[in-house]
Amino acid sequence: APVAVVIPAAGRGVRLGPGAPKALRTLNGTPMLVHAVRAMAASRAVSLVVVVAPPDGAGEVTSLLDAHALPERTRFLVVPGGESRQESVRLGLDAVPPGHDVVLVHDAARPLVPVETVDAVIGAVREGAAAVVPALPLADTVKEVEPAAVAGAPEPVLATPDRSRLRAVQTPQGFDRATLVRAHETVTDDVTDDASMVEQLGEPVVAVPGHEEAFKVTRPLDLVLAEAVLARRRL
Ligand code: C5P
Repeated sequence: APVAVVIPAAGRGVRLGPGAPKALRTLNGTPMLVHAVRAMAASRAVSLVVVVAPPDGAGEVTSLLDAHALPERTRFLVVPGGESRQESVRLGLDAVPPGHDVVLVHDAARPLVPVETVDAVIGAVREGAAAVVPALPLADTVKEVEPAAVAGAPEPVLATPDRSRLRAVQTPQGFDRATLVRAHETVTDDVTDDASMVEQLGEPVVAVPGHEEAFKVTRPLDLVLAEAVLARRRL
């Protein structure tokens, strides 16, 4: 069954500092979004990429993708996004034509995910999982706190969850298409990833090994790291 990927790329990226929408910032001269689309197109299983552009930026994103080479087998569509990541994903999902029974959702902000991770996620969905997330163990100890009303004020620590049972979750997350559509129709709470909506349906979600190069470009230091990774790959 052919695989479609939805790439939400409509965020403004305020934490990265002032400038263009995050997905359009460049890494070694190439927009982050183009790196992300190529990372998905690197999988031979992927036949369609739906890019969810900033609401007023669909034209610009279309020209950008037209100007950069993609593999022959990969088609792409561009649709305008929404107010939240969740709404942007739903708009992208609505644009996936019938026949794509496996759908991946991948953040444009994770431009360097290796193809092995993409294929591992697709493989686990094809083997029958309704939802699959790439995940890594944590380096830091994590504490639950009572969040302070004022940023920077001391916060009481409430608990220290057992780190060995925690994972940091990445994208692409992979889904049985019907399950993801149902999740988006049913769950209205604010969520930060798509798999948690499937969890709320009571459907099982599994984690497969993620990759350190699938990190999310969020803050200025992440741009430095991303360019260093690209330099190491000589791209
Ligand atoms: O802000 P955050 O890093 O969690 O964004 C994750 C992804 O969701 C980014 O690729 C961003 O462009 C996308 N997004 C979106 N529409 C929004 C907000 C974020 O497509 N309204």
